Amino acid sequence: MDAFLRYVELRSEDVSDFTKYPFSLAPIRQLEQLFFHPKVTFFVGENGSGKSTLIEAIAVAAGFNAEGGSRNFNFATRRSESELHKYVRLVRGTRRPKTGYFLRAESFFNVATEIENLDSEAAFGPPVIDSYGGRSLHEKSHGESFIALVTERFGSSGLYILDEPEAALSPQRQLALLKLIHERVSEKCQFVIATHSPLILAYPDAGIYHLSETGLEAVKYEETEHYALTRDFLEHRQRYLRRLFEE
Ligand SMILES: Nc1ncnc2c1ncn2[C@@H]1O[C@H](COP(=O)(O)OP(=O)(O)OP(=O)(O)O)[C@@H](O)[C@H]1O
Ligand SMILES: [Mg+2]
Repeated sequence: MDAFLRYVELRSEDVSDFTKYPFSLAPIRQLEQLFFHPKVTFFVGENGSGKSTLIEAIAVAAGFNAEGGSRNFNFATRRSESELHKYVRLVRGTRRPKTGYFLRAESFFNVATEIENLDSEAAFGPPVIDSYGGRSLHEKSHGESFIALVTERFGSSGLYILDEPEAALSPQRQLALLKLIHERVSEKCQFVIATHSPLILAYPDAGIYHLSETGLEAVKYEETEHYALTRDFLEHRQRYLRRLFEE
């Protein structure tokens, strides 16, 4: 399948100061031809390693609002996004996405507010809220809203960029999300996902990039700390806890 997004690279010739954020981050400084998996691309790494910085730049370069949401939304209530999107080259495939969504875990609440605002203004066409199951997202729990969003709003041939989609979800719902991702992938969708969840990360038909202080590298699922540490911890929980509390 032809991907919507083929690769992203830093136009490093235009960067004047590599000591300043976001270029000071190794994964950004060293960003050259990062190829997207045609189905699902994951970014993993420690807190602060640069996943959100990178994924946001990709989303903005792809035409999404930095705040998150579909391309119809245009609002800004958050801190200003980084300038990185101006310094990356996003190379697309021949196919164009029919729809898409950029989810920032931290601003999903604002997306819900924005949908209500859009609908309270005189509008042409059906209310946006209809595409979320007809009930205000504010009347659903965080996790329920998110699953409703994916179920109702994520259409076929879409480009979906998700930053920590697991934030709202129970383990059971994370598996539900895996299934939804799988269904959308079979409908020619492409996903780019930053995650800390060993459950989400288990999606089999995917490429995983690990961001760290030394840069950016492709890794296998079993090589990720998310997999190895979670498995070890659950298998040897008492030993881990003893050691952790003794230190
Ligand atoms: N606007 C900004 N100005 C300066 N530094 C920033 C800015 N935004 C983020 N940073 C720094 O850049 C680094 C990477 O941040 P980023 O949010 O991309 O990390 P992350 O990998 O998404 O982390 P997490 O897993 O906690 O979400 C952090 O050290 C952060 O403090
Ligand atoms: Mg982040």
